[in-house]
Amino acid sequence: MSLVGLFKGTGPSGFGYSSTAEQVSEGVDLAGRTVLVTGVASGLGQETMRVLARRGATVVGLARSEDKVREAARAVGVDAVPVACDLAEPASVRAAVQQARDRAGALDALICNAGIMALPKRQVAHGVELQLLTNHVGHFLLVTGLLDRLAPESRVVVLSSAAHQGAPSFGVDLDDPAMERGYSAWKAYGQSKLANLLFARELSRRLPRGQVANAVHPGVIWTNLGRHMGSPLQTMSGVVAPLFMKTIPQGAATQTWAAVAPGAAGLNGEYLADCNVARSSALGRDAALADKVWRQTEALVARL
Ligand SMILES: NC(=O)c1ccc[n+]([C@@H]2O[C@H](COP(=O)([O-])OP(=O)(O)OC[C@H]3O[C@@H](n4cnc5c(N)ncnc54)[C@H](OP(=O)(O)O)[C@@H]3O)[C@@H](O)[C@H]2O)c1
Repeated sequence: MSLVGLFKGTGPSGFGYSSTAEQVSEGVDLAGRTVLVTGVASGLGQETMRVLARRGATVVGLARSEDKVREAARAVGVDAVPVACDLAEPASVRAAVQQARDRAGALDALICNAGIMALPKRQVAHGVELQLLTNHVGHFLLVTGLLDRLAPESRVVVLSSAAHQGAPSFGVDLDDPAMERGYSAWKAYGQSKLANLLFARELSRRLPRGQVANAVHPGVIWTNLGRHMGSPLQTMSGVVAPLFMKTIPQGAATQTWAAVAPGAAGLNGEYLADCNVARSSALGRDAALADKVWRQTEALVARL
């Protein structure tokens, strides 16, 4: 157990910081259930795929190529329905929506897990900063394309991050989607993760009764996500990670809990961390901003 884990107990759900994806889904029979997970090629997405498949779910796995899904599933000894999806390419996301429709039935859960973090230099594609495009816009396009395929009690889970608190003071600015007015790696990541959180909140309001959407902070876990952080930090990760970070099985717990655990049933529009309800920033609770970001994203994807 990490040092942090020693000082953190469990919350009202009975789970907490140190719970793993296996523990939060213990005894849950997912036979006959279908769960779509993005970003299954590595990290939290791969572990989430593994545990859900072990519990009997049909996992529709999304990664940049079908081969990446197959390799990642084989590496952890499970099967997945592979779908290619580059979240930064609208045409690829639209094709993935069609393939998910063709290859899978109703979705009992949909986990928007893929992401990129803290690109040192501003990168823009389709007129949108790459973290905003990948983390938020790509998932918006994917989820809204599959709304009519959600099962009556479907749970949508969107990976946000505590880093949403580092978003610019204005929150999310879709009048400047390319961040031409000023770029910093962490502000851009924070903006994209705030957009993820607001998307889940607004979706929770728009879904029919029975279906839910929640946002998740998974904890701090050493994964490929840190690839842009620079080599000193990467060198330190061997020392720092075991002391101060969650393991990948612990990091995958909150999204697994939100997607399938009986104890999370009925939660809607919440921000979750350590397998419990948590409190986001004020901007993350701003319903007017959530509505505005939804409408602006809708207009943006219509142009892509
Ligand atoms: N790890 C943490 O401490 C932490 C903390 C807070 C939030 N999160 C969130 O947790 C989620 C999972 O991250 P992780 O830690 O598991 O990182 P990871 O191992 O890097 O996994 C992210 C996955 O997203 C995929 N991805 C990136 N860009 C993509 C694109 N354009 N199209 C399709 N797939 C793409 C990556 O595939 P490729 O390798 O092919 O690019 C990778 O498999 C992210 O949303 C992240 O923001 C993580």
